[in-house]
Amino acid sequence: MKYYIGIDLGTSAMKLLLVNEDREVIKTVSKEYPLSFPRPSWSEQSPEDWWTALKDGMGELLTEDQAKRVEALGVAGQMHGLVILDREDNVIRPAILWNDGRTHEETEYLNEAFGKEHLAESTANIAFAGFTAPKLLWLKKNEPQSFEKIRKIMLPKDFLNYRMTGIHSTDYSDASGMLLLDVKNKCWSKKMLSTCDISEDQLPTLYESYEAVGTLTEEAAKDLGLNSSVRVIAGAGDNAAAAIGMGTVNEGSCNISIGTSGTVLIPYDNFSQIQNNAIHNFCHANGRYHFMACILSAALCNQWFCSNILGDKDYESLQEKITDEMILKNEVYFLPYLMGERSPINDTGASGCFLGLRPDTTREDMLLAVLEGVSFAIRDNMEIVSSLGIDIKGSTVCGGGSRSPLWLKILASVLNIELHVPTSEQGPGYGVALLSMGIKDQQPNIKQTISPDEKLIARYETKYQRFTKLYPSLKEFFKGE
Ligand code: XUL
Repeated sequence: MKYYIGIDLGTSAMKLLLVNEDREVIKTVSKEYPLSFPRPSWSEQSPEDWWTALKDGMGELLTEDQAKRVEALGVAGQMHGLVILDREDNVIRPAILWNDGRTHEETEYLNEAFGKEHLAESTANIAFAGFTAPKLLWLKKNEPQSFEKIRKIMLPKDFLNYRMTGIHSTDYSDASGMLLLDVKNKCWSKKMLSTCDISEDQLPTLYESYEAVGTLTEEAAKDLGLNSSVRVIAGAGDNAAAAIGMGTVNEGSCNISIGTSGTVLIPYDNFSQIQNNAIHNFCHANGRYHFMACILSAALCNQWFCSNILGDKDYESLQEKITDEMILKNEVYFLPYLMGERSPINDTGASGCFLGLRPDTTREDMLLAVLEGVSFAIRDNMEIVSSLGIDIKGSTVCGGGSRSPLWLKILASVLNIELHVPTSEQGPGYGVALLSMGIKDQQPNIKQTISPDEKLIARYETKYQRFTKLYPSLKEFFKGE
């Protein structure tokens, strides 16, 4: 039996999956690492912690016999993070992550002074605070000594690939989120490189996600307990990899992920420019393209409210108390902008809020508002998708939040589409393991389809219309004005 390994480099933990040649998941191991918020809206992590998690996780994942039979592996990574290496390939400073909001000024400069149209022409996208290019501009201005030392710029998963192979590589799906890639022509954009004052040799070599970058170095093979003949593929951004794992590869399909962030991913075959670019236009891990919208705080909102505020991590029993009757009369609203927001409002200054509290408001009403607020924010993006003329009738769902039947019922009714839950949901790690086997299209078995609930559709239509009024009326407040 041959084995393959898929590694999901997440924001709170790394998940390693051992998959056999019959595409069955044999074992999963999860390793947590810290996430630091050194200042309000900053979000950083140490790349060395990722490498330690990989070594420790690999030790737990495999028996000696399995280790000898591993053919290939791949990493799916949290996107957009800025990792910088010096001449000796040492990490210069902690990685600045996808949900970091420090680059408000730089994002505004790129969108306004450089201009959204020029950005879209060069990269097929506009600037969002979490993207990599604004981070480079921030670094140049605020930490010039670090900027001067840069020899290589990479994304989180590329750092692990470098440690494993000694090769500086990236893949098109992840590189799309840097705002340095010309997505249409699949090459680095000269205009963006000069705007960020970097040269092409500071960037990694581009590959398709499923292409092998190389094999393990002798040192990495020893560290990981694997043969040095193991192939390492270029891997993918976590959302593109999850879409491969969920079979979201054909036009007309859609995958919604309710992880720390929430994403809507819609594949398409041939490059097409979109109006206003409120959602992203990226390369897919199968060699084609996809549209994607990202809300920065999805399951994070539930986790925050239950753990930090209610002091109760038993999400399931907290949700069990919520009835349809409560849904029909709940007047509490929640804006899920705990980390600012990406799509579609692109506002780093936005923050989370509850509205509609009364003396009889219960914790269940507030928890319900949290689940609804995240669903409404996803609907905001679905509205953009339908304004582009894309008709989505159903979607697969993945991520921690998709394990909640209540949340799925709410989301299906808010979006008024069917949601398909696969039999086994392994997300990005499974997708990248498939890619390492050379598989780009595998449709999952669906264990359940959640249909919108007739009673709730009308209720949520009204509630969503009121929700859409909240952000515009708070926009000035969020600016501090
Ligand atoms: C996508 C995004 C997030 C991260 C989470 O654009 O920023 O989904 O990839 O890991």
